[in-house]
Amino acid sequence: MPKDLPETMNEIAKRRGLYWPSYEIYGGQSGYYTYGDLGTKLKRNIENAWRSHFTRHQNILEIEAPIINPEIVFEASGHIANFREYSSECTKCGTSFRADHLIEEKTGLENVEAMGGDAIKRLLAEHGMKCPRCGSPLKEPTLVLTMFKTEIGATGGITGYARPEAAQSMFINFRRGYQHAREKLPFALAQVGKVMRNEISPRRGLTRVREFTIMELELFFDPQYPGCPWLSEVAEEPLSLITETMMEEENNTPIQTTVASALQQNLIITEWQAYFMGVSQRFITHLGVPPERQRFRAHLPAERAHYSAQTYDHEVEIEGWGWTEVAGHAYRTDYDLKAHQDGSAQDMTILREDGTRVVPHVVEPSFGLDRVFLATLMTSYERRKKRNILRLPRNVAPIQAAVFPLVTKDGLPEKAQQVHRLLIDTGLNAQYDDGGSVGRRYARADEAGTPLAVTIDYDTLSDDTVTLRDRDTWTQVRAPISQLAERLKSYLRHEAEFTDLGTPL
Ligand code: GAP
Repeated sequence: MPKDLPETMNEIAKRRGLYWPSYEIYGGQSGYYTYGDLGTKLKRNIENAWRSHFTRHQNILEIEAPIINPEIVFEASGHIANFREYSSECTKCGTSFRADHLIEEKTGLENVEAMGGDAIKRLLAEHGMKCPRCGSPLKEPTLVLTMFKTEIGATGGITGYARPEAAQSMFINFRRGYQHAREKLPFALAQVGKVMRNEISPRRGLTRVREFTIMELELFFDPQYPGCPWLSEVAEEPLSLITETMMEEENNTPIQTTVASALQQNLIITEWQAYFMGVSQRFITHLGVPPERQRFRAHLPAERAHYSAQTYDHEVEIEGWGWTEVAGHAYRTDYDLKAHQDGSAQDMTILREDGTRVVPHVVEPSFGLDRVFLATLMTSYERRKKRNILRLPRNVAPIQAAVFPLVTKDGLPEKAQQVHRLLIDTGLNAQYDDGGSVGRRYARADEAGTPLAVTIDYDTLSDDTVTLRDRDTWTQVRAPISQLAERLKSYLRHEAEFTDLGTPL
């Protein structure tokens, strides 16, 4: 492993077009990243993998709602009052820092946010914390709102905020969703979209940015019928849990359990949350992160969002950064629907068969796509014989096959372009490359995470076969062009192994 994987990954990302800091030509602006072609494709593949894991059931409905919301939405939801962080400003240079992060960096303590405001103030003073930029004293930390404020209408008049989560649009559209779900509980509204948070001090690249994509789902259920009919699909899924009690005891060694057993022991209080945690484990494993690098950590009450009765963060261990949250699983109860019922004076209850009415309860799995993207990339990294290789799972890799002519003469480029077109026409995401030696092209494909390379050589001209090369083992087989697309597809769908694709070389 290189000393600093995050730094290595940033270099690869810029070189290959995964992502880079935005506004480079104007000197940059922290907290913003731009995705390149490779990054956009990988992000889209991960988003679709999320869909196929989380929205597979018919009564999970997707929506797409506006990003800017009138202030009244966030007044009602409690965000204006609660979406705040402790900020410490330098007395001399005026730079602001997130107080809990300053303490974490200086002391090595974890999760300082969870300790609450008094502890944050005390620890800052106890450790004589100074401005990391100019060394001057810091002011006492204050709570600041971390939402972007704007005006709706070019001449102003209505205050608006960029949404810091997509969830509120699911709550304010609950009645429409209920109607489209044929007026039956349970049902869910899901959304993938941009959110904005005016982070005090963005850090760790894509993990804390000011604009990111969230993949969120709000499952509405009647608390009198809390059972999840799909639980058996994930009942035996392994979970590594750090429970609330363990957090209180500062015990960071997770217990190894399963979805079913965690429920039996009441470590997760609703079946729905347990179900989504199982799906979450499966989804992140599908992206190549092994189970031993995943855990679910419970929030202590002081860390929990204002709406939550129980929250587990799904964390991934990332080389160089340690345990990093990729998703939050929250039991939001009836908090949000009641809040919007009060704010809008619209009825958010549903009528039960027995004639009683109830405000549904909500369980929410919420993923930061950019963090999942980064966790996938970082986990995939391998250094082999002085080469960088991204062992991205073959079914999420942004480019599925690279096509090379062995040399750029004697009709080989033309033949390779024909093969390239053939693969594209059958729906594969293939890329043609004839720049530099074939060895350099293999290296480029490895660094881009492309699972297969197809090489056209002199034999191809006479027998219509090509060489296939496996990114992960660097072994090669020979296969006929006539069956190429079908064989590649079955490999990418995990229906065949590499050695099934042709005759070994
Ligand atoms: N609706 C619940 C919610 O928004 P959250 O834990 O605040 O919960 C959800 O955010 C996920 O969004 C987190 O688990 C994390 O993956 C991601 N996330 C949060 N803040 C982020 C930031 N500043 N930059 C990138 N991703 C972020």
